[in-house]
Amino acid sequence: MSADTDRAMSAAAATPTNNSSLSDILRDPTAERAEKALCFRGFWAWCVLIFLIGCCVFAVMWLLRKCIQGPVYRKTNRIDGKVVIVTGCNTGIGKETVLELARRGAKIYMACRDPARCEAARIEIIDRTQNQQLFNRSLDLGSLDSVRNFVARFKTEEARLDLLVNNAGIMACPRSLTADGYEQQFGVNHLGHFLLTNLLLDRLKQAAPSRIVVVSSAAHLLGRINREDLMSERKYSKFVGAYSQSKLANILFTRKLAELLKDTGVTVNCCHPGVVRTELNRHFSGPNWMKSFLKFFSLYFFKTPRAGAQTSLRLALDPALERSTGGYYSDSMRFPLVPWARNKETADWLWRESEKLVGLPPIEPPPPSPPSQANGSGSTTAANGSHATGSGGENIETIVVNR
Ligand SMILES: NC(=O)c1ccc[n+]([C@@H]2O[C@H](COP(=O)([O-])OP(=O)(O)OC[C@H]3O[C@@H](n4cnc5c(N)ncnc54)[C@H](OP(=O)(O)O)[C@@H]3O)[C@@H](O)[C@H]2O)c1
Repeated sequence: MSADTDRAMSAAAATPTNNSSLSDILRDPTAERAEKALCFRGFWAWCVLIFLIGCCVFAVMWLLRKCIQGPVYRKTNRIDGKVVIVTGCNTGIGKETVLELARRGAKIYMACRDPARCEAARIEIIDRTQNQQLFNRSLDLGSLDSVRNFVARFKTEEARLDLLVNNAGIMACPRSLTADGYEQQFGVNHLGHFLLTNLLLDRLKQAAPSRIVVVSSAAHLLGRINREDLMSERKYSKFVGAYSQSKLANILFTRKLAELLKDTGVTVNCCHPGVVRTELNRHFSGPNWMKSFLKFFSLYFFKTPRAGAQTSLRLALDPALERSTGGYYSDSMRFPLVPWARNKETADWLWRESEKLVGLPPIEPPPPSPPSQANGSGSTTAANGSHATGSGGENIETIVVNR
């Protein structure tokens, strides 16, 4: 018998015949072990695969979350003893801004409309930073008297102001009026800050180089300055109309002010803080399920208030921006503006109108009459609608200094 025939016979003996039962096969320890080993390998392969997929998903979500949160202001420069005012800082972005400025040694006037909430925030920030130089001050931007009282008191306390952060804001509230009869969002977000800043200009100049930071919003992209209906009397749209208009007004104000403060050492910049998980949406009136969904969604997809404060902080602190003015920033980077947010003619008009509404004397001479009526001297209107003031520059400076 050949060796080949032998091998074939022993293989046939080892191989179960069609007649052998299933239990015989299962009882065979070699087959059982092989089967177990196979299953074992398969199980762990699945575990490793699932683990790797989990790691990838986690890494992508972590990266996405990092991108959503935006850059952090990491320079460690201190501002010990610098005098700062932050509006609307008992909560949200403003509170985080104060917390970081306090850590860096600033002397901060917390300008809030609710003294009790302001005090709670002040004590918490003192506890966390050990900076005792924090003061609770009453300021309701919806009342021009309150703004004047705040400034009057501040001026008895401080001869200089190094940093003003116009942070307070309301969004999409039902139509209501300020104490002075102006539409609430335009009144609080723009007019209150307009008056506050103008009344503090002399103190800011005393402290030059000093800074103004205006917290605006990307919502300005949807906004237009409605010259015929600035107070939304004829038609009120709480977000796309009134809120967006007020945030566009913040930007036009910033640009006009930067022009007026040229060469004074006072810079003014504005920013969009991002979409931030704060109390700003307190007037949201959707159904409960939508509120719950938004709350849940915002946990991951919105910035934390700390992250939301980073652009304001960079504008307030970064030594590299000491001379930058008139800019619009988001995620700590300067962005170009859409044409309606950098329209000089609209900015001029809004400035004059705001002065009338808050009762300030004009900072500039009235706009020149059209070229056909002008007698050839003094101011001229440029082809792009901007005004060249000739000798008017002196007047501007004098009035700005007086303010
Ligand atoms: N959160 C966002 O996603 C987002 C996006 C773009 C722009 N922003 C802008 O960021 C700024 C800060 O908003 P936030 O998100 O931090 O909102 P927030 O949590 O609601 O804080 C707003 C602050 O403004 C104060 N405030 C409201 N009305 C005031 C008034 N009449 N006088 C004085 N203070 C007043 C509030 O005081 P009370 O607590 O007493 O009401 C509060 O301290 C706002 O200008 C907002 O437009 C926010």
